[in-house]
Amino acid sequence: MKKILVTGGMGFIGSNFIRYILSLNEDFKIINVDKLTYAGNPENLKEIDRKFPNEYRFYKNDICDFATIDKIINKEEVDYIVNFAAESHVDRSIDNPSICCETNFFGTQSLLNAARKHKIEKFVQISTDEVYGSLDFNDSPFTESTHLSPNSPYSASKASADLLVNSYYKTFNLPVNITRCSNNYGPYQFPEKLIPLMIYNATNDKELPIYGKGINIRDWIYVDDHCKAILKVLLDGKIGQIYNIGGDSEISNIDLVKKILKILDKPESLITFVTDRPGHDLRYAIDHNKITKELGWKPEIKFEKALELTVQWYLYNEEWLKNVTTKEYLTYYEKQYKNR
Ligand SMILES: NC(=O)c1ccc[n+]([C@@H]2O[C@H](COP(=O)([O-])OP(=O)(O)OC[C@H]3O[C@@H](n4cnc5c(N)ncnc54)[C@H](O)[C@@H]3O)[C@@H](O)[C@H]2O)c1
Repeated sequence: MKKILVTGGMGFIGSNFIRYILSLNEDFKIINVDKLTYAGNPENLKEIDRKFPNEYRFYKNDICDFATIDKIINKEEVDYIVNFAAESHVDRSIDNPSICCETNFFGTQSLLNAARKHKIEKFVQISTDEVYGSLDFNDSPFTESTHLSPNSPYSASKASADLLVNSYYKTFNLPVNITRCSNNYGPYQFPEKLIPLMIYNATNDKELPIYGKGINIRDWIYVDDHCKAILKVLLDGKIGQIYNIGGDSEISNIDLVKKILKILDKPESLITFVTDRPGHDLRYAIDHNKITKELGWKPEIKFEKALELTVQWYLYNEEWLKNVTTKEYLTYYEKQYKNR
């Protein structure tokens, strides 16, 4: 049995990854380490403890706490580490850059040290296309050799962590991979991020705040496709390599929000344009040819279909959405938008 330490497994992508791995019924055990920040929600993996008593363990811990991470790896005899844990929201990183430097950089360093000490078989760093900075409308998509040019404290902290991961490969021969993925969507995403925020507001007939003129373009990937790519990289990725992961689905924010309104049969008059995010990147686009050629991965689900599925999931899981939104949304997010 291979034991995978997943950090940040109570968050959006981490919880989807854990569900995916356990659903395979293969010889994996998951050890989930999560600090349970506002974004970490035990409800994301509610029935997993009961369904997989031998294949799943949860530890509430901070990845920056090396001593405890060290003990967990020792006790659970961990083979692989997949590091999802992060302060993942650009707006919050603008309000308070320190939090994302601590977790995203120093937390990664703590895990790298533990990985080195325990001679872990593979360390996968879950990074983002945002480390490459911003593209113009006509620029070619990011490849793995595009130079790093992050613009927000969030993307700068992720880029710094990527450099550190690479340094542990070059200096200490630590077996690492870095994945850089585009914008994810799907079930269990905290509703401060664009898609669940718009679904939540539209279903409650609230205003839909769009930054600037809504012309910013993102490449969207359904979270299941991302999870499949991560497992491929973990098992088959060439040591020391970086892999871009993308959804082949570029769309502007305004067009995306209009699609959501159409699915929900709500009027476009709910859209309201708010002052743009400082340093807002114009466009991200991913060239994923490397992972497609080397590992045989490509995004499977079409954007229109997956968006529909996502909207339906939030409608059917109204209780989940209500619980997370009463916990955080009112206290942080509405205040933010009112001030802009
Ligand atoms: N969401 C996206 O579109 C996207 C795209 C590309 C890459 N990524 C990367 O994927 C990873 C996961 O993103 P997400 O959207 O699931 O984030 P998320 O905010 O939903 O989840 C982050 C998780 O990390 C946990 N965490 C935070 N600080 C921690 C700490 N110090 N110790 C232990 N746990 C801690 C939180 O409790 C939470 O469960 C991040 O590294 C992010 O940079 C995200």
